[in-house]
Amino acid sequence: MAVSIKEFIEGLPKAELHLHIEGSFEPELMFEIAQRNKKEIRFNSVEEVKEAYNFSNLQDFLDIYYEGMNVLTTEQDYYDLTWAYISKVYLENVIHTEIMFDPQGHTDRGIPFDTVINGIDRALKDAQTKLGMTTVLIMSFLRHLDEESAFKTLEDGLKHRDKIMAIGLDSSELGNPPSKFERVYKTAKEAGFKLVAHAGEEGPAEYVWEALNLLDIDRLDHGNRCLEDEKLVAELAKLKMGLTVCPLSNLKLCVVDDLKKHPLRTMLEKGLKPSINSDDPAYFGGHMNNNYLATAEALDLTKKELATIAKISFETSFLSDFQKEENIKLIDDYLATNS
Ligand code: HPA
Ligand code: ZN
Repeated sequence: MAVSIKEFIEGLPKAELHLHIEGSFEPELMFEIAQRNKKEIRFNSVEEVKEAYNFSNLQDFLDIYYEGMNVLTTEQDYYDLTWAYISKVYLENVIHTEIMFDPQGHTDRGIPFDTVINGIDRALKDAQTKLGMTTVLIMSFLRHLDEESAFKTLEDGLKHRDKIMAIGLDSSELGNPPSKFERVYKTAKEAGFKLVAHAGEEGPAEYVWEALNLLDIDRLDHGNRCLEDEKLVAELAKLKMGLTVCPLSNLKLCVVDDLKKHPLRTMLEKGLKPSINSDDPAYFGGHMNNNYLATAEALDLTKKELATIAKISFETSFLSDFQKEENIKLIDDYLATNS
């Protein structure tokens, strides 16, 4: 008997390439950690927290996102946060994940960089040894802060070079173009980091050009607004640039007003390489399978198209060519036996 689209998605091997670990912080764990650290939060219940998750743009969300992470203090907190995410997506057949963290969201509150990264890294190592997952860690700079702060963070990251594969750029996009971090990215590239950056989520196509030409990115986070510029689309297609698309995030942050109008299908038709990701699952209504399913239903995606998107998630990952091929073979086998 043919499996349903939902079952097909649940069993589909996939990679997550756009996930802010602080955005996976569920209110239940937030209360637990607040209590053990004797920290106040302004909400009285999990329900109250969830009611506050109504956003009309990126900044609305960021304000509450930075507030939420304020309770994280000890290495164990960062381990628990990361392990909670890993345990969740492991059950969704996410076999590879590339997660971002925002060091400045912690170091600016006086939490040592080492505390943050050691907790996250320990959970990622456990994901590898206990669950057989592969993982990558991406250190993101907060673009609303200045270049000096990014350089300081890069210096901290260099002391943990073995734990970090790539650097990224997130937070408030409008008014903080990629050009602001051109020199930081140049230094990071020289140090051998892979480079990603959020661009074209709220910002114009011009910001995506800057991410390509000035930052020399290896992968683009979001990128929705590239579709406003034909030449840019052609360039991204030529480069086989991965676009880490986040459908439920786009809906929650009003980047699209209806998932039926989501640009993912158009991106595929234009020869781009979009993957499906959750961004900040605790805030936007779900992890990977919810994102796949909501998008499949809204855009009428077939099993074959969903398998293509999952293949793109490996193809545009930072895995080795051998690992990419192995994972893509898994998807071909899966499609052959489950269509
Ligand atoms: N955009 C920019 N910054 C972010 C996001 C996002 O979607 N999530 C967490 N930080
Ligand atoms: Zn993001």
